[in-house]
Amino acid sequence: MFRRLFIKSATIFTFATSVSGFTFTNAKGRLVGNCKTTSDALGPYFREDAPLRNDLNYKNRMGIPLRVKGQLFASDCKTPLGKRIIEVWHCTHKRKYDMKSDEFKCRAKVMTDEKGCYYFETIIPPSYWWRPKHIHYLVRGIDGHQDLITQLYFEGDKKINSRTEHLHYPYDPDRILKPYSDKDGDNEVKLNLFLSSLEK
Ligand SMILES: [Fe+2]
Repeated sequence: MFRRLFIKSATIFTFATSVSGFTFTNAKGRLVGNCKTTSDALGPYFREDAPLRNDLNYKNRMGIPLRVKGQLFASDCKTPLGKRIIEVWHCTHKRKYDMKSDEFKCRAKVMTDEKGCYYFETIIPPSYWWRPKHIHYLVRGIDGHQDLITQLYFEGDKKINSRTEHLHYPYDPDRILKPYSDKDGDNEVKLNLFLSSLEK
């Protein structure tokens, strides 16, 4: 049973806390993973109760189709975490976050398979405001790990620069990805996720 999140603030430095008082990694605090995955802002647009699915596409959506895939690992950097939930969300092709509709546009809980692998089908989200194109991730504290809150970015995005919040550009290359064509010619990116232990 997942803990409930309560949005504390509507700023980019938003963080969330559970009913038990446990505090998520604050983007300002920037806890860095034991392996490769660095944390990023939760942002003000997280929403509970997204459906379990792998297809984030919605009616009349526009944009460049994209498959995102990867593998979820424990803090030892090698143990895959199977049958775990990864939450993902991003803005629609209209640069809006779906905060109300039953469609939960561009939002999902994605389940890893036995080998910790995950994937979802969506579009490359547009940028909004000053922010580069990005996809949000949340993996709740599981198996003695910290919550992982992070974001995926796209290589070549001109909005990414040394002033991009929470991204140690160009020193965070593992989260700045270049889409490639899979064997069928479809756009794909791969983001492996490495959790951090609570002791860190
Ligand atoms: Fe965002």
